[in-house]
Amino acid sequence: MSEAAAAGLGKVLDEHRVVVTVGSGGVGKTTTAAALAVQAASEGKRVLCLTIDPAKRLANSLGLNEMTTEEQVVDPALFTENGLELKGHLSAMMLDSKKTFDELVQTTASSPEVAERILKNRIYHYVSNGLAGVQEYMAMEKLYAVRQDDRFDLIVLDTPPTSNALDFLDAPERMVDAIDSPAMRWFIEAMDSSGGRFSLGILGKGAGLVMKGLSKLTGAGFLEQVAEFVGGLNDLFGGFRQRAAAVSGVLRSPEVAFVVVTSPAPMAIREAFFFSDRLRELGMRRDGIVVNGVHYLLSEPSADEATLRAACAEALPDVDPGSAVDRMGRALEDERLRAVADRIESDRLRSRVGKETTFVEVPAFDEDVHDLRALAKVARHLVSAA
Ligand SMILES: Nc1ncnc2c1ncn2[C@@H]1O[C@H](COP(=O)(O)OP(=O)(O)OP(=O)(O)O)[C@@H](O)[C@H]1O
Ligand SMILES: [Mg+2]
Repeated sequence: MSEAAAAGLGKVLDEHRVVVTVGSGGVGKTTTAAALAVQAASEGKRVLCLTIDPAKRLANSLGLNEMTTEEQVVDPALFTENGLELKGHLSAMMLDSKKTFDELVQTTASSPEVAERILKNRIYHYVSNGLAGVQEYMAMEKLYAVRQDDRFDLIVLDTPPTSNALDFLDAPERMVDAIDSPAMRWFIEAMDSSGGRFSLGILGKGAGLVMKGLSKLTGAGFLEQVAEFVGGLNDLFGGFRQRAAAVSGVLRSPEVAFVVVTSPAPMAIREAFFFSDRLRELGMRRDGIVVNGVHYLLSEPSADEATLRAACAEALPDVDPGSAVDRMGRALEDERLRAVADRIESDRLRSRVGKETTFVEVPAFDEDVHDLRALAKVARHLVSAA
């Protein structure tokens, strides 16, 4: 890796098997993850870029029609066409949390028959498709599984725009908590004491009535579905818990690097502070901080007012030169204010970051990051010295 690369996040790419981008909504997590993946692939690594949302723009900038839940190889020709070298290779894949959950059930169930029964269960469908926190947990689960895949040297994981980004890191623990919750245990004990057959009788009168009401609402067979699902969970219980603990352990291992992405907006910076502190509290690494979309001071116009007016009159013959120069002055002033504000916020964050964390800035570009060339441009900023 080049010297410039080693100074920025290049070191993080070199030293870790998994790099996770985290941060609040819309700050550039996907862009950063993709740019890091492009950079590492171009320098010789075999890279998998794993995303959670469909990220149409990302797919397009990698020359793909859309992100799919199957791995897709990014066409090496795309690198050449964009004037980039590709020494390694790059694949991209979108996470399918339902599919990951299904695979988890298959590997944890005591027998293929039990797995089959759970997978066909209607309540399982509801839980695996829509329950809060499941997506976050499954992202971590997938990471755990895919990191053992020796076809890849590096896995870059882009995390979802969770309203509370911490949900994501806590997911394995919260999964264990949910499984361990009194309600769940009560269900499981009820199952056990009934010898695997769940009946209204063992629920006691009150609960029985509630369940009867529920089954009326949701149609016949609901209770049987509950019974089967709870029975299934009981079967998965030990394996599942062990697995969540293992996933949680991996997230804290030196193998996994975290990069916090933020915009220079004060609210995003506040969240980045909070998030960085939380990473530390949770015993996770904080290898890098990216302030993305920074405005810089533009150089002052060197010409005097009269020259500017003359230039405007020539370039924009239909516009009053006085008002054009005025408007340009105001736009420049706005830009300057933004640049100053961004500088203050970014430096505030930088001053709180210790030596163990690499700090980089990426400028705000005039256009969205929509092709491989633009991703490579972002990457250059990510891997060069701040
Ligand atoms: N430095 C930049 N300059 C200009 N545009 C940028 C820059 N970084 C990102 N963008 C654009 O900003 C938008 C949001 O970026 P991105 O999708 O990477 O954010 P995100 O954090 O992944 O969002 P979400 O939380 O919704 O997943 C995209 O349109 C992207 O092209
Ligand atoms: Mg995103």
